[in-house]
Amino acid sequence: MNADGRTRLNQTPEWTALAKHREELGEVRLRELFAADPGRGTGYTLQVGDLHIDYSKHLVTDETLRLLRELAAATDVFGLRNAMFRGEKINTTEDRAVLHTALRAAPDAVVEVDGENVVPGVHAVLDKMAGFADRVRSGEWTGHTGRRIRNVVNIGIGGSDLGPAMAYEVLRAYTDRDLTVRFVSNVDGADLHEATRDLDAAETLFVIASKTFTTIETITNATSAREWLLDELKAGQEAVAKHFVALSTNAGKVADFGIDTANMFEFWDWVGGRYSYDSAIGLSLMIAIGPDRFREMLDGFRIVDEHFRTAPAESNVPLLLGLLGIWYGNFHDAQSHAVLPYSHYLSKFTAYLQQLDMESNGKYVGRDGRAVDWQTGPVVWGTPGTNGQHAYYQLIHQGTKLIPADFIGFAEPVAELSEGLKAQHDLLMANFFAQTQALAFGKTPDEVRAEGVPEELVAHKTFLGNHPTTTILAKELTPSVLGQLVALYEHKVFVQGAVWNIDSFDQWGVELGKVLAKRVEPALTEGAEVPGLDGSTRALVAKYRELRGR
Ligand code: F6P
Repeated sequence: MNADGRTRLNQTPEWTALAKHREELGEVRLRELFAADPGRGTGYTLQVGDLHIDYSKHLVTDETLRLLRELAAATDVFGLRNAMFRGEKINTTEDRAVLHTALRAAPDAVVEVDGENVVPGVHAVLDKMAGFADRVRSGEWTGHTGRRIRNVVNIGIGGSDLGPAMAYEVLRAYTDRDLTVRFVSNVDGADLHEATRDLDAAETLFVIASKTFTTIETITNATSAREWLLDELKAGQEAVAKHFVALSTNAGKVADFGIDTANMFEFWDWVGGRYSYDSAIGLSLMIAIGPDRFREMLDGFRIVDEHFRTAPAESNVPLLLGLLGIWYGNFHDAQSHAVLPYSHYLSKFTAYLQQLDMESNGKYVGRDGRAVDWQTGPVVWGTPGTNGQHAYYQLIHQGTKLIPADFIGFAEPVAELSEGLKAQHDLLMANFFAQTQALAFGKTPDEVRAEGVPEELVAHKTFLGNHPTTTILAKELTPSVLGQLVALYEHKVFVQGAVWNIDSFDQWGVELGKVLAKRVEPALTEGAEVPGLDGSTRALVAKYRELRGR
């Protein structure tokens, strides 16, 4: 029994039924499932918004899916979902509501936190962002010397970087190509150096993105950026106002830094960092793509929010994807999950999902404060196809690990490509379809022999297949489709956290490293004695000081 009175997840009848079903299914073969059901390729599909979802190449039967839905019902996934949408404080360890869905709510929606409707505030900030973005894009907003802004440098880390940086790449084709937009996150000075070395300070706007405005990497980089700017412009503090804006929940700290709070774009503690790029944290993106495209992206998020909120379990795509992950992670011992986009523009998408998924569900303590005794969040990884095919796909095809994967692709190439480059799209997508086919169905020894392969090579050239994949296919990559994709993964992560009974919205696991870094720094710089430093770290610090001639 859990401390909260619920039966332990792995002692529920629904969990036990799934474990038994897993045993009975044994080594179910995708080849057999398709042979037994010729309609599987069209039957095991769903549509949400513009996203066509094919889950036919999964090691599941109707019975598996039914049992997984029963687990979701037993763990009250939809109850928690409703509580989230209602604005209840489901982030219990931080006593906060979880309302990224309010960031894309329609203007006339009502979402209350502590009795106050937050939607008007959301739209007021969006309008303020739009006004500012338009002024920068039109050249009306000028820098300290009167020159128009041509460069935007976003300084933030984690959720204050990965979302806007990813979305900027995804939507490159929709950006104002006359603007240079860069993202600096790493406290390694090389990051800011490379981002600013060829920029004219007079034409550069720094967007300092930090929910707390206390994150050491961001404040350090912002301070260095301010020094660089004032140095380059040979100006005093008065130049800061035209070159620095802040995105934050912490007006006090923004003012302490010297940024006019009139140039601050607000968000709220009910927006988690990794769920925030559709809030004020998206300002750099909005400047790049313009307010209308940004709003189209929000519309895309809303399509999937509505689907998740209202679709029945049988056709609820985030529920399905979350449960499939549980099927592999908890009943097949899969340790990781690959996300493999067949779009160059999605090059940062999986890195973004790493924070979304792993910071949300990488936890061993349940909501009731007890350690779980079941697996929780997977390692999420992947890079765009077809590059991955020539690197690590070997291991997915013929390695010893089960790696479920999502393949994301688009029917149309991006419109601005030349006709010649557009013609390459069919080759890209041929790879996309070929890979999931090869992964699912493999190649039997007999098929290899039939090709005349000598016997000693038959085993090497055999593909066992049975590697599960989801295919996500859309007509084209638009701002709305990006919003739909992100919301799909947000809610998938939600479903898994709900089933595992963990708080997906805190991140205590990143704190210890931050505290230790603060303690160790004086040892590096001044050789200060750090009480309680372990033998290995002490020796490494001494070596570091020696190498630096200190
Ligand atoms: O890594 C921990 C974390 O708190 C993330 O959750 C967050 O996205 C990131 O740091 C940045 O935080 P902030 O926006 O407050 O600077």
